[in-house]
Parts: sequence; structure tokens; C-alpha cells
Amino acid sequence: MTFAVWVLLAVAEVLTLDRKGARGEVRFDHTAHVKASTKTPCVSCHHTRTERGTPQLAPCAACHLAEGDPKNPASKTSFDELHRTRAFHDQCIGCHITAVKGPRACVECHATERKP
Ligand code: HEC
Ligand code: HEC
Ligand code: HEC
Ligand code: HEC
Repeated sequence: MTFAVWVLLAVAEVLTLDRKGARGEVRFDHTAHVKASTKTPCVSCHHTRTERGTPQLAPCAACHLAEGDPKNPASKTSFDELHRTRAFHDQCIGCHITAVKGPRACVECHATERKP
């Protein structure tokens, strides 16, 4: 029984990110990523609105909306919109490039094309 509960909890730590677009689901092992990040693990991804302080655990797409939505936050460096696909790509691929570890090619994250 204890083992079964543990397995359920462990499985729930792997998230399936899917904005229902053309590129299908993205598997995200949350537990492994928390273990891999050493400094300020939560806020390094769950950043606050204006600074990297207290973690705010709202889904990314609560603030990073569809491409072209005027409510999207603007990038401080390039002043263009941080829509949700870009927010995910900048954070996920950005860290994989910096870390020189983790997938950077489309098919490594987007394992399947969505079936029509
Ligand atoms: C490190 C993992 C990662 C890599 C590499 C990556 N993506 Fe994504 N991508 C995501 C995540 C996470 C999302 C947001 C969740 C979702 O919508 O599936 C996303 C969303 C998208 C979306 C919008 C949603 C959809 O399914 O249509 C498109 C289009 C997309 N990616 C295309 C690409 C293309 C093209 C490449 C290669 C140039 C690429 N991605 C590489 C993780 C990745
Ligand atoms: C490497 C990046 C990263 C780190 C580090 C990280 N998270 Fe997350 N977390 C995410 C992403 C991405 C999601 C999915 C957000 C979404 O659905 O839009 C998420 C989702 C969550 C959720 C919602 C889970 C669900 O089932 O939807 C909670 C709660 C959470 N994180 C808590 C934490 C806590 C607490 C920490 C620190 C111990 C942490 N996270 C560290 C990236 C991260
Ligand atoms: C409460 C609103 C909110 C939530 C939730 C949120 N963001 Fe953001 N994000 C912003 C705003 C606003 C900016 C513009 C820069 C700033 O003001 O810090 C931003 C900037 C960014 C940037 C570019 C600059 C930087 O600081 O790295 C990335 C990448 C990003 N967000 C990814 C994410 C991801 C991935 C998640 C979910 C784990 C997320 N955001 C959750 C509001 C939010
Ligand atoms: C703070 C840095 C960081 C961020 C942000 C990050 N990753 Fe990673 N990721 C890593 C590292 C480091 C590895 C390599 C782990 C290893 O090989 O031990 C990795 C490995 C992976 C892997 C291959 C291993 C596995 O779990 O299957 C996938 C897939 C992946 N990341 C997806 C994502 C997605 C999707 C996001 C955004 C939602 C993301 N990552 C955000 C650092 C990060």
C-alpha cells in the first residue's frame, strides 16, 4: 500500500506540458529538474512578476498568453512579447544551452507531432 502511494506520487511529478498546438505533448520530469538545479531551485523557473524572489507557483500560461495577445509581458532586453511558447522555449532551451545538458532539438522534447 505504502509502495503504491509512493509510486503514484512519483508519477505525478512528471508533468505533461501541452498547449494543444501542432507539436504535441512535452514530457517534463519536475522532480529530476528540481534535483538538478542547485541555486534557488523554485524561483529559478517560477520567477516572480518583476524579480526572482518568493516563488509564485501559478502556471506559466497564466501570464504568458497566446502569441499576439496584447496582455503578454514584454522582454526587458528586446521589448518584444513573451508569449507562452517563447516563455517555455526561452526557459527550457535557454537553460539546456547554458548547462550544455538536456535536449535542444525539437524532436527531443516534442516526441510526437499531433495527429489531426
Ligand atoms: C527543451 C524542450 C523543447 C525544445 C527543444 C523545443 N520545444 Fe517547443 N515547446 C516546449 C514546451 C515545454 C512547450 C509548451 C508546451 C506545449 O505547448 O507543448 C512548447 C511549445 C511549442 C509550440 C506551441 C505549442 C504547439 O504544440 O504547437 C510550438 C509550435 C513549438 N513548441 C515548436 C518547437 C520547435 C519547432 C522546436 C525546435 C526548433 C521546439 N519547439 C523545441 C519545449 C520544447
Ligand atoms: C527547471 C524549472 C523548474 C524548477 C526548478 C521548479 N519548477 Fe515547478 N514547474 C515548472 C514548470 C515548467 C511547471 C509547469 C507549469 C505550467 O503548467 O505552466 C511547474 C509546475 C509546478 C507546480 C504545479 C504542478 C502541477 O501538477 O501542475 C508546482 C506546485 C510546482 N511546480 C512547485 C515547484 C516547487 C515548490 C519548486 C522548488 C522546490 C519547483 N516547482 C521548481 C518548472 C520548475
Ligand atoms: C504572474 C505572472 C507570471 C508567471 C506565472 C510567469 N511569468 Fe514569466 N514573466 C512574467 C513577466 C511580467 C515577465 C517580464 C519580465 C519581468 O518583468 O520579470 C516574464 C518573463 C519571463 C521570461 C524572460 C525573462 C526572464 O526573467 O527570464 C521567461 C523565459 C519566462 N518569463 C518564463 C516563464 C515560465 C517558464 C513560467 C512558468 C514556470 C513563467 N514565466 C511564469 C510574468 C510571469
Ligand atoms: C535550470 C535549468 C533547466 C531548465 C529551466 C530546464 N531544464 Fe531540462 N534539463 C536540465 C539539465 C541540466 C538536464 C540534464 C539532466 C541530466 O542529464 O542529468 C535536463 C534534461 C532534460 C530532459 C532529458 C531528461 C529527461 O528528463 O527526460 C528533458 C526532456 C528536459 N530537460 C525537458 C525540459 C523542459 C520541457 C523544460 C522546460 C519546461 C526544461 N527541461 C527546463 C536543465 C534545465
